[in-house]
Amino acid sequence: MTELKRVGVLTSGGDAPGMNAAIRAAVRACIYYGIVPVVIQEGYKGLIENRMEVADARTVANIINQGGTFLKSARCQEFRTKEGRVKAYENARAAELDGLVVIGGDGSFTGAMLLEEEHGLPCIGVPGTIDNDIYGTDFTIGYDTALNTVVEAIDKIRDTATSHNRLFFIEVMGRDAGFIALNTGIASGAEDILIPEQEKTVEVFMESLQKSGRAGKTSSIIVVAEGDRSGGVFELSRAVEENFPEYEVKVTVLGHIQRGGKPTCFDRVLASRLGVASVEALRNGDSGIMVGVRDQQVVKTPLERAISKHNQIDNHLMKVAEIVSV
Ligand code: F6P
Repeated sequence: MTELKRVGVLTSGGDAPGMNAAIRAAVRACIYYGIVPVVIQEGYKGLIENRMEVADARTVANIINQGGTFLKSARCQEFRTKEGRVKAYENARAAELDGLVVIGGDGSFTGAMLLEEEHGLPCIGVPGTIDNDIYGTDFTIGYDTALNTVVEAIDKIRDTATSHNRLFFIEVMGRDAGFIALNTGIASGAEDILIPEQEKTVEVFMESLQKSGRAGKTSSIIVVAEGDRSGGVFELSRAVEENFPEYEVKVTVLGHIQRGGKPTCFDRVLASRLGVASVEALRNGDSGIMVGVRDQQVVKTPLERAISKHNQIDNHLMKVAEIVSV
């Protein structure tokens, strides 16, 4: 077992529901194992600006049920520079940190990897992003909550779409990944789902719309991931209005509503497991890895792989979406 005196914990990148539960778990795992937890404000920015403090078990009381991150988060440009990382490391060394738990997505993990490579500070990644686009884990913290938020919103939109015989384009988050779009599209009964991983031309999309019309559908929900490459919701809606003047088309961009809210039970448990696992990994002498869950088991993946590889979209699930939307 590696002897650890002090461990830093930070959240970085886009916030995700369940990050608080992960911070809580990491802090309390430190205390459980006799390590002093040090919480860092606003991600790498706070590390560079030396904004950190020793936490105790009560510092993280009553946050397991809260969305966002009570430590705050940032996408820090300065940390992308070597000079920024030198400042961050010097502060970490002055605070006598023996390791760092980084809760965030792939951008945050790239930073952790560089900090470790350049300065030798052991870093453990905990996947926290609503996008579910991190390799090495079946689920990222916040994804399940975001799915439920989106489905609830689309259910409401369906009520009005049906009442007015309208076609709705709904844009959901996912800059590079279609996991949110695919799963919420199936769960909300969407007629079509457009994702970045599977390019669909406007023509193909139009054909499927014609098919829906022939099948007697009077209203339609089309879920589009923000990273989709067929033109985005506004361009698609213009194309439909031009080609199908009989349709009344509306666009809803769900936006940041998807990132907030109380974490689901699933996300709280996942975050608790991974927060504890991150501290246990440091005690085990691991560094430069991410903790994740695969087939119900906690697994470790080198940060370099977690960043460079991508979870694949399940083609079978795409087929299911097609079948259930006839
Ligand atoms: O990475 C998570 C994510 O929610 C993406 O899906 C989205 O494109 C991005 O963050 C939005 O980031 P910001 O809040 O910085 O606009």
